[in-house]
Amino acid sequence: MNALAATQEVARFRALLADRLGLAFDEHKLATLARVLDSCGGDRQRILADLAGSAPPDSLLARLASELTVTETYFYRSGDQLRAFAELALPQRQQVRGQVQVLSAGCASGEEPYTLAMLARSCGREAGVALYAFDANPAMLARAERGHYSTWAMREMPPDLRTAWFRHEGEQYLLAQDIRRAVHFEQRNLALDDPQFWQPGRFDIVFCRNVLMYFTPAQAQAAVARIAHAMAPGGYLFLGHAETLRGLSNDFNLCHTHGTFYYQRKDQLEHAPPLAVAAPVARAQPVAPDPMWAEQIGRASRRIDVLASSTRPAAPAVHSAPDLQLALASLHEERFSQALEHIGNLAPHHADDPDVLLLKAVTLVQAGAVAKAREACAQLLARDALHAGAHYVLALCEEMAGELEGALDHYQGASYLAPGFAMARLQAGRLLRRLGQPEAARRELELAGQLLEGEDAARLLLFGGGFPRAALLALCRAELAALGGAP
Ligand SMILES: C[S@@+](CC[C@H](N)C(=O)[O-])C[C@H]1O[C@@H](n2cnc3c(N)ncnc32)[C@H](O)[C@@H]1O
Repeated sequence: MNALAATQEVARFRALLADRLGLAFDEHKLATLARVLDSCGGDRQRILADLAGSAPPDSLLARLASELTVTETYFYRSGDQLRAFAELALPQRQQVRGQVQVLSAGCASGEEPYTLAMLARSCGREAGVALYAFDANPAMLARAERGHYSTWAMREMPPDLRTAWFRHEGEQYLLAQDIRRAVHFEQRNLALDDPQFWQPGRFDIVFCRNVLMYFTPAQAQAAVARIAHAMAPGGYLFLGHAETLRGLSNDFNLCHTHGTFYYQRKDQLEHAPPLAVAAPVARAQPVAPDPMWAEQIGRASRRIDVLASSTRPAAPAVHSAPDLQLALASLHEERFSQALEHIGNLAPHHADDPDVLLLKAVTLVQAGAVAKAREACAQLLARDALHAGAHYVLALCEEMAGELEGALDHYQGASYLAPGFAMARLQAGRLLRRLGQPEAARRELELAGQLLEGEDAARLLLFGGGFPRAALLALCRAELAALGGAP
């Protein structure tokens, strides 16, 4: 076979893996994919045809999942989320529904759902909890069923719980039968629809941690829609620390308690279009340092939406995008009433455009009109609950009202939703220092310093409070120096 044909087969294999299992592989994985394709026991064309067929064999999908998924997991992973589960989500859902259905989607070798079973047991709530867990990788499920674990899997587990729930057996530890019996495992593919399983409103609490990060954006969006559909209104969704719903779903509100972020399903679902036709999630592009303000304003007015998460389709072409240049220029010159006048003069159909609402909220907060800024943020969050810019402006409002803890919550929410958002990091670092948390402050400020160097000019213009990049960098260094860090 010639090299071109072989490369095309691997490319096709990669596309089919995304389609069938949701998994995304970058260029570095092409050699691995070629090896796995050749290890499937048959000629490449037949395997590809099987995968592309209307009903790909389960055995083939299971084999591919076993070969290609990342299965790292351990007991008591991310303790902050587990506390939110045990102390808030579980009691709250039990109060609402009595019997609570909990799902661990992508459970790997069972450590996650077994941890949830132990927690339910520890807080005396196990009688009202049904625990389901699935994974596409049958080798991992077989391990979960066996219940034998190494000490490595228990590295985050409090020692007294290890003694309480495990029995030493040779090199390994066997999990207590009570806990093993508490979880119903099954082999299931998160990338597949199955109306029998994904029944509307079925689950109260879903853990889908460290799974979507391996999915293509379109498949992650489809999987979240599937999960949202099968969750009860008010139910809780936990993702991995490195994952957010930003750009994937408008069906959840962001929650922040116990030092962690998670989501609560809204009462009504939106029917988001498939990602292919959704509004693109703009990425911040580094810009050359200190371009002319006029040029920055022009650019910002075209890219003011960099912090939006919306999965809604772009506004219909009947209306052109609002022209925000005049308002932005007035904001930059700190002529706030004039900026608000320009915003007010926009065509009425632009009034609830997210870019317009964000610009209005920023202008109002800078003008000191906190209550009205909050109103604009509330309108913005009603449209897009995961809008990082709205959380940032709310943080400013809280800070102006002297509510430092509340402000910190929103700054951290903004950075969680938009990890590259330099100003949110800088403000969080500043507040953490004032709140007497020097280590956390240093982490945020160091990151802010790195991010500010390449921060998008549109974000600096909107959120920099009128200060240019150099002044913000100097502020960041001064804050670090006050902590005793490098000047
Ligand atoms: C990194 S582990 C995460 C385990 C656990 N949720 C945690 O956070 O510790 C990811 C798991 O997702 C599973 N997975 C990947 N793609 C899947 C799919 N399409 N359907 C079901 N499970 C999948 C993998 O087999 C793997 O066990």
